[in-house]
Amino acid sequence: MKYHRNLECWLTILLLLVTVVLSIVAYVFWYRLTFFIGNYLFIHWLGLIATSYVAISNPIHYFLKRKRRQNYKTILKIHVFGNLFAFLLISLHFAQNVGRLTGSLQTLSEGFVLYLLLSLIVLTGIIERYQNIGNLSRVVRGVHIYTVIILYFIMLIHILEGFNLL
Ligand code: HEM
Ligand code: HEM
Repeated sequence: MKYHRNLECWLTILLLLVTVVLSIVAYVFWYRLTFFIGNYLFIHWLGLIATSYVAISNPIHYFLKRKRRQNYKTILKIHVFGNLFAFLLISLHFAQNVGRLTGSLQTLSEGFVLYLLLSLIVLTGIIERYQNIGNLSRVVRGVHIYTVIILYFIMLIHILEGFNLL
């Protein structure tokens, strides 16, 4: 049990390192990621796919966790690694956009706040999963779960703006 948890923890650290390295590459060479697929930039598709995954998979996780208690370990693994992978894709979207806008940082708006919130959710998720922090764990869990409501709200605004509907 402990072995599996340690392995998961190392895989999490590895995935986060890959996220940081690829984000730096996307930030520095942002112009290489500026190409279209259909009507939208590739990098916006990445944001859209990953955000859709986060928006859909987490309510499913909530229900499956209660309905399929016997599969809880698998459900939690999918929650952790699915969301970490989505975080990787969203980080690329974030880093490319910030790279593109470095000359006019004031144009950063709700997308930036969205990324801070998402990072907070990922961080509290990691603490909850791998750290034993006694009484504080209730606070961390509370932040992890309730921030999601604000995240969904800002995501909606950002998507509507992205599609020029707002
Ligand atoms: C958690 C998910 C996301 C994060 C953290 C994020 C982050 C960002 C950031 C930081 C920017 C730069 C401008 C700003 O600060 O608002 C941006 C721009 C943009 N994002 Fe996202 N984004 C996310 C999801 C999405 C999704 C799902 C779409 C789908 C339509 C999208 C479409 C766009 C577009 C079109 C822009 C360019 C806006 C412009 O140039 O004026 N983003 N995003
Ligand atoms: C976008 C990212 C994420 C979102 C939106 C999210 C959302 C949630 C939600 C809503 C719950 C409550 C589920 C319930 O009560 O049924 C939860 C629980 C949990 N999350 Fe996350 N989470 C994310 C990422 C992560 C990550 C990256 C980790 C760990 C590395 C993680 C670890 C946990 C743990 C340990 C629990 C408690 C166990 C459970 O309820 O099944 N989460 N998360």
